[in-house]
Amino acid sequence: MSSVGQPLTRLEGRLKVTGGAQYTADVPLAGALHGSMVHSTIANGRMISIDTKAAERAPGVVAVFTYRNMPRIKPIQKPWVHLHPYGQSYLVLQDDQIHYAGQPVALVVAEGLDQAAYAGTMITVHYEVKPPVVFNAETARGAFEPPQFLWPVNSSVGNPAKGLADGTVRIERAYTTADRHHNQMEPHATMSTWDATGHLTIFEACQGVFALRDFVSIALEIPPEKVTVISRYVGGGFGGKAYVWPHTLLAIVVARFIRRPVRIQLTRAQMYSMAGHQPATIQTITLAADQAGKLTGIHHDSISPTSVFDDYIEYAANASRSLWGASGGISTGHKILYTNRNTPTPMRAPHEAIGHVATEIAMDELAYAVGVDPVALRLLNDTLVDPYNGRPFSTRAMRRCLTEGAQRFGWNVRNPVPRSTRDGRYLIGQGVAGAIYTHWRWPSKARVVLRSDGSALVESGMQEIGCGTYTVMRQVAADALGLPTDKVDVHLGDTRLPASHSAIGSTTMSNAGAGVLLAANAARDQAIALALTGHDAPFAGATAKDVLTVNGGLALGHQTIAYSDLLARNRLSVLIGDGNYDPVEEAPTSIFSFSALFAEVQVDEELGLVRLRRFVGAYDAGRIVNPRTARSQAIGGIIWGVGQALLEQSETDPAMGRFLHRNYSGYLVPTNADIPELEVIFAGEFDPEASPLGTKGMGELTAVGVAPAIVNAVYHATGKRIRDLPVTVEKLL
Ligand code: MOS
Repeated sequence: MSSVGQPLTRLEGRLKVTGGAQYTADVPLAGALHGSMVHSTIANGRMISIDTKAAERAPGVVAVFTYRNMPRIKPIQKPWVHLHPYGQSYLVLQDDQIHYAGQPVALVVAEGLDQAAYAGTMITVHYEVKPPVVFNAETARGAFEPPQFLWPVNSSVGNPAKGLADGTVRIERAYTTADRHHNQMEPHATMSTWDATGHLTIFEACQGVFALRDFVSIALEIPPEKVTVISRYVGGGFGGKAYVWPHTLLAIVVARFIRRPVRIQLTRAQMYSMAGHQPATIQTITLAADQAGKLTGIHHDSISPTSVFDDYIEYAANASRSLWGASGGISTGHKILYTNRNTPTPMRAPHEAIGHVATEIAMDELAYAVGVDPVALRLLNDTLVDPYNGRPFSTRAMRRCLTEGAQRFGWNVRNPVPRSTRDGRYLIGQGVAGAIYTHWRWPSKARVVLRSDGSALVESGMQEIGCGTYTVMRQVAADALGLPTDKVDVHLGDTRLPASHSAIGSTTMSNAGAGVLLAANAARDQAIALALTGHDAPFAGATAKDVLTVNGGLALGHQTIAYSDLLARNRLSVLIGDGNYDPVEEAPTSIFSFSALFAEVQVDEELGLVRLRRFVGAYDAGRIVNPRTARSQAIGGIIWGVGQALLEQSETDPAMGRFLHRNYSGYLVPTNADIPELEVIFAGEFDPEASPLGTKGMGELTAVGVAPAIVNAVYHATGKRIRDLPVTVEKLL
């Protein structure tokens, strides 16, 4: 009886739909004050004066902080070292400089939230204004090669120049993607409280309680044991809550200074300048191939903007490093431009989902140029060896994803000629894309407590950010112990539990889950040891390997013993298993997850409107622990990609240098009415190198390749090749 592989519903589902699940802003804290920030209206310059007198006298106000009276904070090193907790290195309210629109210039702390916000409107600031640097095709010419933070900035394998020259067919194109924002349903919220002993407790809407604890320890120079971070439920992260942002630091420092708990919640508009965003890209790609469509060379480079103080790189060109083989060679490169904006940050799916727009639209252009079917072209260029490092892929079911996805979609009946298919007033088009997504191997700890009533408790400081983490961890522990799933409780999101990594990079199942598996196995092994050699040992004389788990206990042949009985015989209230998953980060093989995406669109040519009609996603994310939560991830990822393809763009005012649309009415995301029935296929197999659970990264994979599949379908429908995302009305008319 295995629960792994079963489509279990969410352990916490009922709590969530009945309002019983406490999100950060729901946590009641007696005596907590509210903080409300005032933001710069200019994007570049300095403050000449700031007048807070009226605000200080406003009802309910306890204190007003500006750079003049804010406690000084030790400068922190630049972010973007691997797994670094900082979102942005520039510390706000420490000097009179203005580097981006929406930068906090004051923090009002009051008894009530409305009182704090109202007092903020009474603050007047005079600025010395300098013209902002914004990102566009002209300014991008000044982009430079940044220092590495994750992968090497440039790559060259084989002889790319010769490979590109050897091809008889060449596609050389530029593609652009837009600035985008995470727009989680749950806005950011933070609450800090210090006790008399100097212990700090933070309630935070975040993707990593331990990352925040480490941040506080470094920034405030206090030992990590003096900090507790709690984050039990999170209403969407998507990368925007992966790192620590300035509002959290403000709440921590101000709460210590005025000796009362302080909470800060961001408004939707504040989230646009306070917690990262996905930077726009200008990408150029050259594909060369022989007459049959076999790639001989690839060159891909990408330019993206960052803030003036951090070297954030969007590694878009990585998409071309390992996706397809090219006989001659592959080269890639990245550049960044300092602009007046807050520091960008990873957003589902960072790097890959942006880069695939170039790689996979260019592949479609190549398919038409050589006259080869786009699915066949990808099968032809599939590779079992990673071109980037020459290592074999641990598992790569790209071929299965392409063929099974094509079959489910009915690709074989597609007329390849653009503008060949109509349905009434609509032009119909079908497009495909392949995708690859990075798999990370990170350490994670967990504890599994087997209790005298025969139930178990899983404890780990990982995060549930909406993906079903409570549920899948319950399944892993239940199977390892031979317990029904409803006998397993799960506690997450608290630094008092064993240390885990942040819920980023689609790592939770494979890494944090492996920690749970090891902990559950350790608890089971202790139970087996008791059964063999404990008091009144039922299996005395047998060997451990012959003992199996059964429903609620252990079995040796036909003999069984319940865990509750075993613990009672030994006068034990609990057995505690510790799990410490500690893989070497670099595996001997190349580990990625893969997918093939098939989109059908209808285009109303007179109105320039695109609608998705059908979508099939076929995924290789290794073994699937819970097909229901995995399918839910895929549906979320596809919808996310529909936004990238058709709707999402954050425009910057070129003169003011600020994001123009800071809410759901100006910044469009897909709604239910935009989304048809979505089909999801799992085509992967158990991958032991990816994880002891056999799983590979899934959540972000599903957002990769969706946009190019849709854009390719738009071309097939209309004959118009759009190379600038999103595909909005004016580009089609
Ligand atoms: Mo994801 S953008 O690594 O939270």
